[in-house]
Amino acid sequence: MKQINIALLGMGRIGKIHFKNIEQHCSGAKITAVADPQIIDSLFKKQYPDIFFSKDPDEVIARPDVDAVLICTPTSSHADLIEKAITNKKNIFCEKPMDLSLERTTALSELAEEAGVKLMLGFNRRFDPDFMEARKSVREGKIGDVQIVKITSRDPGLPPIEYIKNSGGLFMDMAIHDFDMARYIMAKEVIEVYAKGLVVIDKAVAEARDIDTALTTLIFEDGTYAVIDNSRKAAYGYDQRLEIFGSGGMIQVDNNLHNRNILYNESGIHSALPLDFFMDRYAKSYLKEMELFIDALVNNKEMPVGGHDGLQATMIAFAAKLSVEENRLVKLSEINVAIKQLA
Ligand SMILES: NC(=O)c1ccc[n+]([C@@H]2O[C@H](COP(=O)([O-])OP(=O)(O)OC[C@H]3O[C@@H](n4cnc5c(N)ncnc54)[C@H](O)[C@@H]3O)[C@@H](O)[C@H]2O)c1
Repeated sequence: MKQINIALLGMGRIGKIHFKNIEQHCSGAKITAVADPQIIDSLFKKQYPDIFFSKDPDEVIARPDVDAVLICTPTSSHADLIEKAITNKKNIFCEKPMDLSLERTTALSELAEEAGVKLMLGFNRRFDPDFMEARKSVREGKIGDVQIVKITSRDPGLPPIEYIKNSGGLFMDMAIHDFDMARYIMAKEVIEVYAKGLVVIDKAVAEARDIDTALTTLIFEDGTYAVIDNSRKAAYGYDQRLEIFGSGGMIQVDNNLHNRNILYNESGIHSALPLDFFMDRYAKSYLKEMELFIDALVNNKEMPVGGHDGLQATMIAFAAKLSVEENRLVKLSEINVAIKQLA
């Protein structure tokens, strides 16, 4: 079996997760090069003498021994790195979102396809075992015709304001995962978006021209709904729940807790808190998505989450932002027209 040589760009929070998963669990692939301008060369080389290291991602992308690149850098750098990877004919795994502009997202998706380069987007939650099972039950008709999907997605605390300023905002940075989850569960497209947003956690978020709390309704092509609530700060930690309601029943995915003990005493019934944040709550999904990325490369399969999925989720995020700004329902067709006019 061919071994896939991978270059990792960006060894921050998410880059470290992928690095560890590939090194420790993915027999079909190996990290052969890493780029990160903030890492001290000598320290990296001491720890990983067999891995090529550079502060410059261009040098790493151009290496002939690299089959695929993982783009785990800040969002603002994704598009240029995708473009360089395509020019160098490297397959790509890119963290969400591809870019904050719709026209560039569309162009990159098309460019990758034309160049015959495989492109996967990091919508890892699709590969969480609980969510995969929920989708399977829906597909098998276990709850009849699905009418409403409800997603609760609340972070344990605000990220640094500097991060928020460069993130593209709550919809593009955080809710984009939930928009993708709604499409994944429903297996159909969103046609309309209505969203409201608030700043209630810290006024610095407003100064950064963002919101920290949001409620979004998605309307699918057959008139069914998804309702998503987001907050950057839940007092009790990382709150990730899903409910799917259909004509024949309901599926609930509750929070994954630190343990499953439930303590009953005179003051009440107590359980552990939810797992702390994405690193532990979605640990299994990050491994699964990397296994599927490598499998698609080794066995020349279609990527499980491609450029079209990236573009749809980005369009929904864009529509949600516009809906808040203009206080109205936004049709995805408006966003489509805007992309075509800009092209
Ligand atoms: N799928 C998920 O659950 C998930 C979770 C967190 C972050 N993300 C996404 O991953 C991306 C990175 O987020 P993060 O939280 O890991 O950020 P981070 O700031 O922790 O890490 C980014 C790293 O990239 C490095 N870097 C910056 N520019 C670079 C360049 N041009 N080439 C190579 N390295 C470069 C930085 O030095 C840093 O070490 C963002 O796009 C974010 O939206 C996805």
